[in-house]
Amino acid sequence: MSESHSNPPYRAAIITASDKGARGEREDLSGGVIQELIEGRGYVVVSKVILPDERALLEGELRRLCDNALADLVLTTGGTGFSHRDCMPEATAAVADRMVPGISEALRQHSLTLTKRAMLSRAAAAIRGSALIVNLPGSPRAVRESLEFIIDELRHGLDILTGRDGECGSGN
Ligand code: MTE
Repeated sequence: MSESHSNPPYRAAIITASDKGARGEREDLSGGVIQELIEGRGYVVVSKVILPDERALLEGELRRLCDNALADLVLTTGGTGFSHRDCMPEATAAVADRMVPGISEALRQHSLTLTKRAMLSRAAAAIRGSALIVNLPGSPRAVRESLEFIIDELRHGLDILTGRDGECGSGN
């Protein structure tokens, strides 16, 4: 079924978790890739921030966005690997009302067809309130490969989560 034209566009927030990015030592190309892809699907980007890999800061930003209903979708990039500073999945789980393992499973399953290193991603996805949080890997290429794979299905999830669509029956 085509989406209703009476609904406003979904609002997306982007969080880049990167110590170097937050210090201004690395350009945030991955956040830009997310913005390009998501705007191309009709979302409005309401917030785009670069934060260091500090769990308290990441949790605080996730709570701020979700609890004030500032965003319907929060996409994060980076901080999902094995570095001792990587804590994006832990921040996501800490603020989660409900985990959404299927999205991260799908990301890893798809990414494993592209690189076996996808097994090293610890990315998570979760619902807090009426917002969906999805962790993506850190590199611009990985972000593109990952987001392009899930982006169309996210909308149906958001339709259910926000009450725009009451049922899953018409899924394809
Ligand atoms: N997923 C895709 N689609 N493409 C990639 O190149 N890189 C992997 C993985 N997922 C990759 C990917 C690698 S090398 C790592 S270490 C993990 O994501 C975690 O990345 P992060 O620490 O930058 O978040």
